[in-house]
Parts: sequence; structure tokens; C-alpha cells
Amino acid sequence: MQLKLDSVGNQFLAADLKILTAFQKSSTTKSKTETTASVDHWSDKGIKEEFQNLKVTKNFKAAKDETLSFTGITGETIWVVGLGDKSKCTAEDIRKSAAKLFKSAKSSKWTTIAFDVSGFNTVRDEAATAGLIAEAIYLCDYSFEKYKSKKSDTPEQTVILSHVEKKNTTKIEKVLTSAKHIGESISVMKDFVNEAPNFLHSEEYAKRIEADVKKNLKGVKIKILNKAQIQKEKMGLFLSVNAGSGYEPRLVHLTYEPTRSTAKTKHIALVGKGITFDTGGYSLKPGANMAGMKNDMGGSATVYGAFRAAVLEKAPVKITCIMVITDNAVNSYATFPDSVITGRNGKTVEILNTDAEGRLVLADALDYACDQNPDFIIDAATLTGACLVALGNQVCAILGNDQKWMNEIMNAAKAQDEYMWQLPIINEWRQDIKSKVADLKNIGTPMRAGTAIGAAFLEEFIKNDIKWAHLDIAGVVDAQSHLPYCTAHGASGLIVRTLTHVLVNAK
Ligand code: BES
Ligand code: MN
Ligand code: ZN
Repeated sequence: MQLKLDSVGNQFLAADLKILTAFQKSSTTKSKTETTASVDHWSDKGIKEEFQNLKVTKNFKAAKDETLSFTGITGETIWVVGLGDKSKCTAEDIRKSAAKLFKSAKSSKWTTIAFDVSGFNTVRDEAATAGLIAEAIYLCDYSFEKYKSKKSDTPEQTVILSHVEKKNTTKIEKVLTSAKHIGESISVMKDFVNEAPNFLHSEEYAKRIEADVKKNLKGVKIKILNKAQIQKEKMGLFLSVNAGSGYEPRLVHLTYEPTRSTAKTKHIALVGKGITFDTGGYSLKPGANMAGMKNDMGGSATVYGAFRAAVLEKAPVKITCIMVITDNAVNSYATFPDSVITGRNGKTVEILNTDAEGRLVLADALDYACDQNPDFIIDAATLTGACLVALGNQVCAILGNDQKWMNEIMNAAKAQDEYMWQLPIINEWRQDIKSKVADLKNIGTPMRAGTAIGAAFLEEFIKNDIKWAHLDIAGVVDAQSHLPYCTAHGASGLIVRTLTHVLVNAK
């Protein structure tokens, strides 16, 4: 798929499929209220006339998602899509509408599709509008067909964003480049999450990240720790999760520094849970809960996606990205429940449930991250099933030790229309993870505040008062049936946009 800009309107005229919008207009006379479709904003007089001469037009009310399709005089197809009440049409409405339209255009195999941007411009910023349409299209232009013998035969498509004002083109081009960087990074993220766990084991995952960094992220430093190096780091908790694996653990450590970096430049560390498959270990998951656990590396893929996009966007901050990668499997070396393990920071942990493994790998990774002296840390993890109970599969949980830092992330989520909600960490829950035999235990009271208990455990591994936020993405990592710009199956790609926004706009 190729995206092009068209300010003159020539490419619009030549497109096979033209997409225009209409708004709902109500006018009340003495006796009744009449609802009609308003197309006053169309600049193409010919099409306007064709549309107004159609018999079906009088029945078309331009309600949200109501679509009228007709053939224009040059044989092209024209879709008029209703956006409802113009004053209520938000940025997210534009994304959703563009996504639905692009998806149906894709399945009907149109090759040249033109969007009349002026009609979507309800947020009153043409560049932002073009960006929203582009973003939705990039997100929809993804499929995971690697293991299908028969691939879908969608033709190569060109999407034209038409009728943009010439004076805005430079600005819009910049916005489109950003949309492309973010869109591509989300696709890379989705490929990692969707990949089958028999192929994407820890050693392979680290190799694929390395290959992508070397190919696409010039100037980024990459360090990959193998088992011996992780042992040297004394990451006992991370190693205890890997103990039952047939593969070595990997810690991938990426660093990006902006070109004009000074002593004042902020440093943000991202940390991601990379469990390539979570069987639960000896505390084995029941079969029905185990399927789908290839997604358990979603946190690492999310932080990588955001890191990647932020580097391509030349973010103004120093970024460290740390991914802790292993599976959580069972063999005769696997960690027994009741084991006591010492973490990298010296704290001892009684492992009462080997299925609470995410907090163990993250604990050592967070301690390691603190040693890189960042100003801020964000970790992302599919940490708890309890998160789905609390917030469903549409909302990402945020917890942390600094309200201002969490607000910054929540504001970014709001700006990107991604759902995020803060949960508390209270002292009683901090007490709940104290062990009778060690400093800490890796679970709290069963069925009680599971997501916050996980966060309270992680907090024990943050040092030097570094500002830290934890994102539990257990719910949002996969399919989002309410969002037309997410695929119906597999990785959602959510939260990458929010994190990219945080990194790119950090000061
Ligand atoms: N990876 C799971 C959490 C999860 C569950 C993610 C469902 C996505 C969907 C995590 O490692 C886990 O197993 N957590 C346990 C913790 C419990 C043992 C304290 C859980 O949520 O049951
Ligand atoms: Mn688990
Ligand atoms: Zn897990």
C-alpha cells in the first residue's frame, strides 16, 4: 500500500474509488424537524450535481456509517459516507470511519482509492486529519498470513489523500511520515506477538530484534546478554524462570541518544516482559488458560515498537529499552514452588507460584534499568489475569510511584484515544507480599487486587527514587473487536502509540 497526497485534485479525478463524507443536518420548520445530508463542503461541483440528481439521495440521511454508493459519469465508484452530526465527530470517529472504509475498499479489491480529506476535517486541523486517516490505514494494512498455504490476493493499492490545501502540504507530509513510522513499528510489534512460540523462542526473538535494529535503526546501540552474562549480573529471579527452559534467556538492551544530547537531556528507560510462552511452570496453567500464552512477550514487543517509532521520529530524549526474554516452561530443572531465590538487588523471594513469573523477570530487569540512571522508567507487561477482571480487555492498567509521571502517560493515552486507567498501590497490599521465610513472596492473597499486588512487588525493585510507571497490558494486548483499526484476531498493537507520544513529546 502506498499513500499519496493530492492538493490539486487531479488524482482524485483519476481514482477508481472516491470517498466523500456527508454530515447530518436537521432543520426545524413550524410543524416538523427534517433531517438531510449536507455535502456543502464538496469542492467537486460535478460529483455534487451527480449526487443531488440521484433518486436515492433523498433517503440518505448521512447518519454515522450510513453509506451511499453510486457510479460516477466516468465509471468510477463513489462512496458517500455519513459522519453524523459534524459537531460531535471526534478524532477517534475519523480513525474508525477511515478504517472501516479502507477495509471494505481492500476487500472489494480497489486499486486506487481517494479520500476527500476536506470532508473528514472535523477536528479543524487539516494536517491532523490527514494524519488520523493515514494512521488508521497503516493500522489496517496488516495481516499475518505467514502460515497460510493460500495467501489473500489483495492487489497493490494506492491511497490518495485528496483536496488537501497546498499551503499545508509540507506539514501534512511530515505528519504522514510520522504515521508511517508508527504504523510500520506497530506492524513489526504485531509480527513478534503473532509469531508462533515454537519459532519465536528466546534466542530467536533476540536475533529478530537485533536484525530489525541493524536494518532500520541507525545509531542505536545494541547489547544482548546471554545466560552466562545474565548469571554474572546475578539476575537470580530472571534465571529461576528460565530454569525449566530448553532455551537460553536473553536480555536485550538498546540505547538511543538524540543528536543534540546535553547533560540536561532527559533519559527514559523502557522495560518489557518477554515471556515467549507461559505454561505456568510447575504451577501449571490449565489447558484452556494456557492457549494464547504466546502473547506473554507482548510487553517487550510493545516497548520495542514504541522505541523503534521514537527513534525513527528522532525523539528529543535519551531512551534505554530493556527486554527480558525467556519462556516459562517445565523440565526437571524447573523452579519448584517454595523455592527461595535472591534477586539482582539482593532481596530474597519465596516463589509460591511459578505462574507469577512476569514479576520475577521484571524485578531483575527493573533493578538493571535503575543502574542505567534514567530519570523515568515505564515497564509494560501482560502481568495479571486479574487486570482483565478489573478492567476488561479494552483498558490498560497503570500503576506507579509518581503521580506526575503517571499523569503524563495517561494524558498521552488520552491524546491517542487509548483507554488507560490508574489503580492504586496501598500499604496493606505492600504488606501482603511480605514472606514468612524470605523478604518477599511472589503472590499475595488469592483473588484480591491481583494487578496491584503485581505492581507492589515490582515497586520493591525500583531504587534511587526513580520515577516509575507500570502498564499491565494483559487485557489490551490482543484482538479488540470494538476497534475497526485493529485486526479481528491476534495482536492489537495498542499502547505503542501512547508510549511513542510520551517519548517524542518528552522535554
Ligand atoms: N501471563 C500471565 C497473565 C495473563 C493472564 C496474561 C491471562 C494474559 C491473559 C501471568 O504470568 C500469570 O500467569 N499471572 C497469574 C498471577 C497469579 C499466579 C498471582 C494470574 O494472573 O493468574
Ligand atoms: Mn504466568
Ligand atoms: Zn506470564
